[in-house]
Amino acid sequence: MNIGPHLLPNLFFVAPMAGVTDRPFRQLCKRLGAGYAVSEMLTSRPDLQSSLKTRCRANHEGEPGLIAVQIAGTVPQDMADAARYNIDRGAQVVDINMGCPAKKVCSKWAGSALMQNEALALDIVTAVVQACAPLGVPVTLKMRSGWCQAHQNAVPLARLFEAAGVQMLTIHGRTREQGYRGQAEYGTVAAVKAAVRVPVVANGDIDSPQKARAVLRATGADAVMIGRAAQGRPWVFRQMAHFVATGEMLAPPRVAEVKQLLLTHLQDHYALHGDNAGVRSARKHIGWYVKNLPGGEVFRARMNALQNSHLQFQAVADFFDELNHRMDRMPEPVLFDTPQKQQNELETHT
Ligand SMILES: Cc1cc2nc3c(=O)[nH]c(=O)nc-3n(C[C@H](O)[C@H](O)[C@H](O)COP(=O)(O)O)c2cc1C
Repeated sequence: MNIGPHLLPNLFFVAPMAGVTDRPFRQLCKRLGAGYAVSEMLTSRPDLQSSLKTRCRANHEGEPGLIAVQIAGTVPQDMADAARYNIDRGAQVVDINMGCPAKKVCSKWAGSALMQNEALALDIVTAVVQACAPLGVPVTLKMRSGWCQAHQNAVPLARLFEAAGVQMLTIHGRTREQGYRGQAEYGTVAAVKAAVRVPVVANGDIDSPQKARAVLRATGADAVMIGRAAQGRPWVFRQMAHFVATGEMLAPPRVAEVKQLLLTHLQDHYALHGDNAGVRSARKHIGWYVKNLPGGEVFRARMNALQNSHLQFQAVADFFDELNHRMDRMPEPVLFDTPQKQQNELETHT
């Protein structure tokens, strides 16, 4: 599929996750089979654009494939300026965030809160498209199924946004009110897909190759976007691509391979964030990799106390060497708890 003029290598995308999908993580996912990755949300507030955090988030050095940057905000002109600012720094796609339920974002009427104010949402989209179009940069948008159960307006909004020039829509099948609770539903994704001509991406609770294929079939979506299932499991993209192409499951990766890719991930992480901040922010990534592994919980507690990147790096290397004595391949992952009812609904389409 294409985003505007850009042809993507496959249909398995990394979801934007603030504090997670920095450049090293995106790079790793792309190396392991993701066809596309969106940066963490960047603020449109001009006063914050020079902060260290924002500059770190806007670092795309050496990132393979398309550079896509997500912006969030409430003021159309600021959003248009933020789009131009990021295009100047390498963005080839600009994504508007209308999906994030975080209070910090919503109390300022950004993120998914914008779905409640359709006029403002449309003004923002129009301003961003007007800023990007002359530079040949496509604008995409990510939203939820609606604001709340009684106000599921993704379909009419999708039509408005498409008419305003948005070139791809991602739908997370939960309402703002749900946060991350309950199960994602895919009926709204299918309804949006039927209502617009631009590519539509399904998102929410897709945690296995089988689920990716079932959601693609059930919704007719052009691609799937994976968030939490890629945390500590960035090889999930190649597993999905292989399964959807062949119907066969790849074996889990070898422990030795995971050791190597995690150590490379850590080196890139320290290089971007610096040793001090890097050692702290790397802990959550390491925690995800070792979750559900034998000895993982004890290791995580010990590793969290280490304050120095060399010690952290060595501890990770030792843990995986030890694990390799016990097993050749990583165990099968523990999946999200998809209730039988939803499983049945998806399977009727497969
Ligand atoms: C830690 C975290 C941070 C997130 N940050 C963003 C963000 O910056 N922008 C956004 O549009 N969505 C954000 N999301 C939502 C994800 O992109 C995605 O829609 C959601 O996690 C559902 O997909 P999943 O079930 O595959 O995780 C975030 C989610 C998580 C877990």
